[in-house]
Amino acid sequence: MNTLIAPSVLAADFANLQRDIEMINNSQADWFHIDIMDGVFVPNISFGMPVLEAITRHAKKTIDVHLMIVDPNRYIKTFADLGANNLTVHYEACPHLHRTLQAIKAEGMKAGVAINPHTNIDLLEDIINDIDLVCIMSVNPGFGGQSFIENTYTKIKKLKDLITRKNASTLIEIDGGVSDKNALQLKEAGADVLVAGNFVFRSENPTQTIVDLKTLLQ
Ligand code: DX5
Ligand code: ZN
Repeated sequence: MNTLIAPSVLAADFANLQRDIEMINNSQADWFHIDIMDGVFVPNISFGMPVLEAITRHAKKTIDVHLMIVDPNRYIKTFADLGANNLTVHYEACPHLHRTLQAIKAEGMKAGVAINPHTNIDLLEDIINDIDLVCIMSVNPGFGGQSFIENTYTKIKKLKDLITRKNASTLIEIDGGVSDKNALQLKEAGADVLVAGNFVFRSENPTQTIVDLKTLLQ
């Protein structure tokens, strides 16, 4: 499978959101990555349902929603109704993860699990076959523009081994500090989807930056 690129809308210019959404629509990017933060699970608040509704009205690619919120069960149906295709919850925020994943799938979405940098891959052993996507956080969640944590490569390899051993079809997504400096190494370690926020949106020509990332990953 080609490595997918998911620009993180958190790094877009919110005063020109439609322009930035159209840029992704017309680019070689594969998914829209949407970060929802509640100021409780993470020390920051991003945006909520009205903004997501505005995004999905224009976005023409897979909507990959990353919930950094406590008790995400409260909003599963809401996010499905808003047009999310993938709904990712945090391992650390879900005491009944198996039930949460089934509820996400029952709403017709792909079920994702994000893990913080300190969370061990071994904890996914008994749930991996129920997960469509594991999002390995390569920064501490809450903010864009942070530096990439190098231990991520080891975690990717360990997760890839687990997926193979359990004969699962789970995708591996990497989120935080992704750039042209680490993209190829992440792919080689086993990543399927790379989220990129600041690297794309703070570049001079975001469309070309996405082309360059895709070329690098071929
Ligand atoms: C961090 C978010 C990331 C962030 C990535 O909490 O989950 O998706 O937007 O941004 P960069 O690529 O700038 O690290
Ligand atoms: Zn994210």
